[in-house]
Amino acid sequence: MSRIVCVNGEYLDEAEARISVFDRGFLFADAVYEVTAVLDGRLVDFPAHLARLHRSLDALRLPAPATDEEITAIHRELVARNALVEGLIYLQISRGAADRDFLFPSEPRPSLVAFTQARPLVETEAARKGIGIVTLPDLRWARRDIKTVQLLAPSLTRMQARESGADDAWMVEHGFVTEGTSSNAWIVRADGRIITRDLSPSILHGITRSAVLACAREAGLTIEERPFTPEEAREAAEAFVTAASAFVTPVVAIDGTVIGDGTPGPVTTRLREIYVAESRRRAI
Ligand code: PDD
Repeated sequence: MSRIVCVNGEYLDEAEARISVFDRGFLFADAVYEVTAVLDGRLVDFPAHLARLHRSLDALRLPAPATDEEITAIHRELVARNALVEGLIYLQISRGAADRDFLFPSEPRPSLVAFTQARPLVETEAARKGIGIVTLPDLRWARRDIKTVQLLAPSLTRMQARESGADDAWMVEHGFVTEGTSSNAWIVRADGRIITRDLSPSILHGITRSAVLACAREAGLTIEERPFTPEEAREAAEAFVTAASAFVTPVVAIDGTVIGDGTPGPVTTRLREIYVAESRRRAI
């Protein structure tokens, strides 16, 4: 089925949508993006996604081509035009088309592209059974806190994980897990403590991470925000990932080592339930 997508404020059939070959998003990965979950036709954690979008735009000195109200309206219009009930909305803002030059154009005309991806997010096999991950080197640049479209390293890493029989990879730098290829990484120790890496330029500041931290604190769980090693992860009682596209998804094997009894653990299951219920309640 063909989608209606948005290019610079125009709504077009996906087959008709066009971006210039000179677009700096295409030539330099000079672009930032957001992925927002849609539940019951409403936007999950949207104010936080808008706030991070501004943070990324500012870091690249890229002017926003639309106001927050206009960006929100684009998301709602795409949900309506595509009758989207559950799935994702991808939004990308690039520095736009300019003759190829490493220097930024003096008068940039940023381009904005947005499209929907209909898919189940709540009832998924990954949530029911959990996923297996492998640890692999983190090949990315030093500013992973900026959500740019430079996704070749995580894409290559995800491919390598798949080819080795796992579902995904957790990336490792200086002996510590940074994050998943498109998710934040968490473990639950046998004593019940929940560990996830602290915020820094080494990882993306996940919107779901922050919402799940709030849910966990609210539920009275003990949290440590600090780096952990692959060894500590393999010895954990439970593990999981968070992302707009995964919510809270259990990890049941790490580098071939079974985590817990090989099925989604109780803390992970509870956090997923709380997060999904909260998201349904707060979605706009
Ligand atoms: N990726 N870390 C990385 C490297 C990511 O790419 C993502 C999300 C996350 C989780 O962030 P959030 O909770 O805000 O979705 C962490 C999106 C979903 C993607 O690229 O498809």
